[in-house]
Amino acid sequence: MNTTMLFNLSYGLYIISSMDGERPTGCTANSLMQVTAEPNTVVLSMNHDNHTNECIRKTGKFGVVVLAEDTPPSYIGGFGFRSGKDSDKFDGLEYDMKSGVPIINEGVGYLVFKVIDSFETSTHTIFLGELVDAEEIKGGTPMTYSYYHKVIKGKTPKNAPTYVAEEEVKKEEKDVWVCTVCGYVYDGDEPFEKLPESYKCPVCMQPKSVFKKK
Ligand SMILES: Cc1cc2nc3c(=O)[nH]c(=O)nc-3n(C[C@H](O)[C@H](O)[C@H](O)COP(=O)(O)O)c2cc1C
Repeated sequence: MNTTMLFNLSYGLYIISSMDGERPTGCTANSLMQVTAEPNTVVLSMNHDNHTNECIRKTGKFGVVVLAEDTPPSYIGGFGFRSGKDSDKFDGLEYDMKSGVPIINEGVGYLVFKVIDSFETSTHTIFLGELVDAEEIKGGTPMTYSYYHKVIKGKTPKNAPTYVAEEEVKKEEKDVWVCTVCGYVYDGDEPFEKLPESYKCPVCMQPKSVFKKK
């Protein structure tokens, strides 16, 4: 079986949001798709270990921000490489409450869904959501999962359903500088060693010191 055929499936990239009591929270996700139009219904695959899963379960709703190609990658890293269990991901971000969920002021637009059903896989909950609210935020070109990998050179953590272990991906062997927090591979023109100490990973905003040479 050639599992690399899965790489041909297409996805968008989203910030899924919910409330943890009075506190806004959420995470990055790509596994969202529309399944019916009347009523407008989507499925979302959310890892059992993600704090967002528990919050969606408790509140019965979730927000979706459709990220744009020009959305700063720090949103993807900030929501996708740390947990709301021990960090306040909305701290310092501008957001509004829309139909009971927090929506960041970034990206193409937002949608809010009420959970109408769910079922379990061994690792993920599949939430079935019916649309209750949707509006444009900044407009622009929606970011795809492929754009995130190919242009931004971002990686995906283990909790994402589409995670692929490093060793399964055939790569050309060369010296590369990799962010040990989010997996971002530095590909700037300037040699990595010559970058100023103030350099930060553009995806997860961690300092230069967390990069390791491969
Ligand atoms: C590009 C990208 C795509 C992701 N897609 C998903 C996804 O579809 N489903 C999922 O459960 N986790 C996905 N994740 C992982 C979660 O965002 C990550 O585990 C996050 O830390 C969970 O935060 P939480 O514990 O606050 O919910 C993705 C992460 C990235 C960076």
